[in-house]
Amino acid sequence: MQVARPRRSILAVPGSSRKMIDKAKGLPADEIFLDLEDAVAPIAKAQARAEIVDALNSDGWGEQIRVVRVNDWTTEWTHADVIEVVSGAGARIDAILLPKVTDASHVQALDLLLTQVERANGLEVGRIGIEAQIENAIGLTNINAIATASPRVQTLVFGPADFMASINMRTLVVGEQPEGYEPGDAYHHILMTILMAARAHGLEAIDGPYLQIRDVDAFRRAAGRTAALGFDGKWVLHPGQIDAANEVFSPRQADYDHAEMILDAYEFHTSAAGGGRGAAMLGDEMIDEASAKMALVVAGKGRAAGMARTTRFDPNSQ
Ligand code: GLV
Ligand code: MG
Repeated sequence: MQVARPRRSILAVPGSSRKMIDKAKGLPADEIFLDLEDAVAPIAKAQARAEIVDALNSDGWGEQIRVVRVNDWTTEWTHADVIEVVSGAGARIDAILLPKVTDASHVQALDLLLTQVERANGLEVGRIGIEAQIENAIGLTNINAIATASPRVQTLVFGPADFMASINMRTLVVGEQPEGYEPGDAYHHILMTILMAARAHGLEAIDGPYLQIRDVDAFRRAAGRTAALGFDGKWVLHPGQIDAANEVFSPRQADYDHAEMILDAYEFHTSAAGGGRGAAMLGDEMIDEASAKMALVVAGKGRAAGMARTTRFDPNSQ
């Protein structure tokens, strides 16, 4: 089975702050994105591009997936963002995060531009991925076309702040339910639509930010809800949220161990030595191909997170 690099915690860092970028290098987030969009004022964009290039080319980075968020295609900045950061540090960029994607043309335009800039700079063509942020109703409506617009697309990312604003949802606390709608979940349709498109097209589904950054318990609760649905990770806006995200989006140890046991038991029972059976018992639990598939999801996440199993399957005890 292919073990993907996990994207449990995605740390947002303003591209205009060298101090914050340098601090982020040593943090245990799975991904770091250096922002040229909303965290950078219009007058600071040009300087931030240069800062990002310089920071990416500096030493001290860990294993994190490195991403730059450019400005969206309705601004005057996108082309220059891409040309400057990819020409200057393309070999050190894993993906470009594209905000406010409304249809496939946004992704195709970025793909074409990236291809030219990669060629012009002797970079491997097609290596830099695209993360597409879904931040309004039209983007959600076109999500399947967006997901398949380029082989570079790696993730679909929910942008709750812009999304809530764009649909006139009556809330000011990003990531929390709008008052008056409890006990419903105002995000359910959006989250499930993103998740379905991601799973249909083999992409990762990423939840956006939780803005009450000092309340880590509340972050953990919000993250736990999307992790339960099957999302792969969530943005973190503060180093204090990283450990919680890594923990919430990794399987629990007991679940990971159990998943590996199911896979081993299934492999054994379906083999000639195990009797070549399609359905078998693991302790009191019946397992079959469908339960092995579910186990593979949990085991895959655990393996990607570098977890070690604490139990072993013993065919003699079967
Ligand atoms: C993130 O970009 C958001 O709008 O929530
Ligand atoms: Mg946004």
